[in-house]
Amino acid sequence: MKAIVYHKYGSPDVLKLEEVDMPTPTDDEILIKIHAVSINGSDREGLIGKPLYARLGGLRKPAYPILGSDIAGRVEMVGRNIREFQPGEEVFGEIPGYHGGFAEYACAPERTLAQKPASLTFEQAAAIPQGGVIALQGIREKGQVQPGQHVLINGAGGSAGTFAVQLAKLYGAEVTGVDNTGKMDFLRSLGADHVIDYTRQDFTKTGLQYDLILDVIAHRSAFAYPRALKRNGTYFCVGGSVATLFQVLLLGPWIKRTTGRNIRLLVVPQNRKDLLSVTELCEAGKVVPVIDRRYPLSQVPEALRYVAEGRAKGKVVITLERSVD
Ligand SMILES: NC(=O)c1ccc[n+]([C@@H]2O[C@H](COP(=O)([O-])OP(=O)(O)OC[C@H]3O[C@@H](n4cnc5c(N)ncnc54)[C@H](OP(=O)(O)O)[C@@H]3O)[C@@H](O)[C@H]2O)c1
Repeated sequence: MKAIVYHKYGSPDVLKLEEVDMPTPTDDEILIKIHAVSINGSDREGLIGKPLYARLGGLRKPAYPILGSDIAGRVEMVGRNIREFQPGEEVFGEIPGYHGGFAEYACAPERTLAQKPASLTFEQAAAIPQGGVIALQGIREKGQVQPGQHVLINGAGGSAGTFAVQLAKLYGAEVTGVDNTGKMDFLRSLGADHVIDYTRQDFTKTGLQYDLILDVIAHRSAFAYPRALKRNGTYFCVGGSVATLFQVLLLGPWIKRTTGRNIRLLVVPQNRKDLLSVTELCEAGKVVPVIDRRYPLSQVPEALRYVAEGRAKGKVVITLERSVD
């Protein structure tokens, strides 16, 4: 099969279209013929090998040569223990380990897949999983956003952020979106009440305070966040620099005792339940998977370059050449 392969961390230039062996499903896996795969921050991180957690299992060179985690396609073959899916069915979801999707075929277990709703195209379905599930956990499940609360999303114009802005609005919050200069109007169009350009202003130094901050791209000292939170407010760190993640993990309990603010990591396991919940909202038109651009598989390097240049507004989706959506 064709796949976009890389053997060293670096810029999109290290990615090459190659012929590789088809993956073989284990007894507990499903082989999927991919029709669409979307790009997430995890692909950008896995390509350059930064932050350090992107090198898990492969410190010097990538442990797995194919990036891409959010897929939609058709079941080609099922392992012996698979009960819920059959060949020919349309499915979508995440690949465990966040790799293997920039290819014509990939394997995944039942627990991270779901049947693709007929009302969504393969591209729309592929745009939902990782970002949608992170946003659902951060805003609704763990964040428990209530009407009238003030919510700030840092990294609001990317994969998880675009879902988070829409969900926070859906549950009645007053929403501030933080991203780069070129995405300000885009964030307003998603429903953000206020926008902050991270290249010009530091949201922890405005004097404003929020009930909930969802940060997909944390890089500050853990001591910076309490000043942007109301008493009993919560800061969730989803991704970002390893130094910040460690500080949040180690200092969070002490910061809570001394300031009354919650500073926490948000760990989001890949799972079908949340995937179905956020997809139902998409089917009902309450949340939209925002697709900025589409590229063919051969142009994954161009697609990742577009994302890395800070231009992508929402999702960039790779459409496999043969698929007709
Ligand atoms: N916690 C968990 O269990 C879990 C699970 C899965 C994934 N993750 C992590 O979650 C994160 C998800 O990110 P994503 O997919 O939403 O990423 P994304 O699509 O790359 O979006 C990130 C957004 O943040 C913006 N940004 C960059 N620097 C910024 C700054 N200094 N301040 C504010 N915004 C900034 C980016 O804009 P530019 O275009 O300007 O760069 C982009 O719009 C990744 O780090 C991933 O590894 C965590």
